[in-house]
Amino acid sequence: MGKKARDIVKIGIQELLKDLNSLYADEWIAFYYYTWAASYAEGPFSPSITSEIEKISKDEFEHSSELADRIYELGGEPEKELENLQKLANCKKITFPKDERDIDGILNALTAAEACAIDGYNKLLLKISSCYTNDVRTFHLIQHILSEEIEHEEAFENLLEKKRQ
Ligand SMILES: [Fe+2]
Ligand SMILES: [Fe+2]
Repeated sequence: MGKKARDIVKIGIQELLKDLNSLYADEWIAFYYYTWAASYAEGPFSPSITSEIEKISKDEFEHSSELADRIYELGGEPEKELENLQKLANCKKITFPKDERDIDGILNALTAAEACAIDGYNKLLLKISSCYTNDVRTFHLIQHILSEEIEHEEAFENLLEKKRQ
C-alpha cells in the first residue's frame, strides 16, 4: 500500500488485520465445504440445488480474494498455512448430515454457515462504523460482502422452502 493510502487509515491496523484474516479463513473454509457439499448432495432435487451451492461457493472464493487484496493493501499478509485457517476462523466447521440424500439437512447446515458469516461481517462493520471515515475502503468492502452473505442465506432458505412445496 502506498504512503497516502496508509495515511488515510486512522484505525488500529494490527487489530483490523487480525479481524480481516479471521474472515479470510472463514471464506476458505466456506469455499471448501460448499464445493464438497455440491458434489456430495444426491437425490431428485440435487441438480438445481448443487448448481446454486456451486454458484455461491464461487462468491466465497471471490470474497477470500477481496479480503486478501485489502490485507495486502494494509501492509499485512493473508494466512498462508492451511492448518492455521481453522484456528483463525470465526466459523470453524460445517457439519453435514450423514445421509447425502438429506437435502434439507445439507441446506440447513449451509444456512447456518451463512448466519455465522453474516454475524462475523456485521460485527466488524459495527466495530469500524463508529469511525467510518477512518477507513472508508475497508468499510465499503465489508458492507459489500455482508450484503452478499445476506443474499446467500436467503437463497438457501428459499431452496428449502421451494423443496417443501
Ligand atoms: Fe463469503
Ligand atoms: Fe456466503
